[in-house]
Amino acid sequence: MAIVLLLPGLLLGLYALLYYNCLQGAKCQNQSSLRGKTIVITGGNTGIGKMTALDLARRRARVILACRSRAKGEAAVYDIRRESGNNEVLFMSLDLASLDSVRAFAETFLKSEPRLDILINNAGVGAGGRRKDGFNLVFQVNHVGHFLLTHLLLDRLKLSAPSRVVIVASSAHQAGKIDFENLHKPVEGMLQNFQAYCNSKLANILHARELANRLEGTNVTCYAVHPGFVNSELFRYIPSWLRPLFVPISWLFFRDPTDGAQTSIYCATQEGIEMFSGRYFVDCRVRDPWPQAHDDAVAQKLWEVSERMVGLAT
Ligand SMILES: NC(=O)c1ccc[n+]([C@@H]2O[C@H](COP(=O)([O-])OP(=O)(O)OC[C@H]3O[C@@H](n4cnc5c(N)ncnc54)[C@H](OP(=O)(O)O)[C@@H]3O)[C@@H](O)[C@H]2O)c1
Repeated sequence: MAIVLLLPGLLLGLYALLYYNCLQGAKCQNQSSLRGKTIVITGGNTGIGKMTALDLARRRARVILACRSRAKGEAAVYDIRRESGNNEVLFMSLDLASLDSVRAFAETFLKSEPRLDILINNAGVGAGGRRKDGFNLVFQVNHVGHFLLTHLLLDRLKLSAPSRVVIVASSAHQAGKIDFENLHKPVEGMLQNFQAYCNSKLANILHARELANRLEGTNVTCYAVHPGFVNSELFRYIPSWLRPLFVPISWLFFRDPTDGAQTSIYCATQEGIEMFSGRYFVDCRVRDPWPQAHDDAVAQKLWEVSERMVGLAT
């Protein structure tokens, strides 16, 4: 009888130890105020992005949620204003799957906002097939759309320097490959979508690396982030047959979005990390990514190919 009572208690204790010591991850410790600063965060309506936006709003920043759904974006603005007591939280429409939408967002933003201190490229999709124009949706949203967005907002970041770009990548980059022939081709099925996701997250780290090189001396710095495994809506596309296994695992072993937001918040706010511009951060610390993510020749070629994809070069 005693064993029957003891065993669940022991398991619960072990789980708590595992969760708080290993799974939860590091917390961003600084309390810096962001009063007077303007921040754009893509995909700020849910998951890691919403929790990042809430923290930055609590620090009194002017926070612009750049989201594809007006209804979801405005609902998040309402929640964040209420929870932070900061009314300078706004929605602006941005669909990263459409380059026209990215251009329209940039035009509206540049007309209405005199400064940009922090750009957080957070939005992402895990799957999604093909776009109308035949591009691979995952690569388009996770890398190409953000590449154009960053380019269009760069002069405003430079004018507001010291300023920062935070790019939410992933440890999934370790399975990523940059195959320049097939990068943007549409994919089908779970495995191909997963590969496209890994490729796009590798592209995120290479983008941060090359951006940092090109921004040297401007006082604009840039960081790539892995947020940990986070129980968010990112996995909404997993097939229904996998859900019975996946859902309990993610509830038990993944971080909640507040914990998942910590490294993005750290890279957006921590003073003294400028010397690490272009580097990859995990759990609020610099880490070395996998070897394919520090190949400067590939980073430079990816930049040139991305410029052609978004029509900035022929
Ligand atoms: N969750 C994890 O374990 C994990 C691990 C490593 C890295 N990450 C990265 O963390 C970032 C945030 O993901 P999350 O876990 O918070 O996922 P999430 O809860 O699914 O949030 C993703 C956000 O991206 C937005 N988005 C998707 N497609 C978009 C588009 N075409 N245009 C504009 N916004 C779009 C979504 O908007 P809607 O709500 O309208 O769909 C949502 O706001 C992603 O870059 C992801 O790759 C996550």
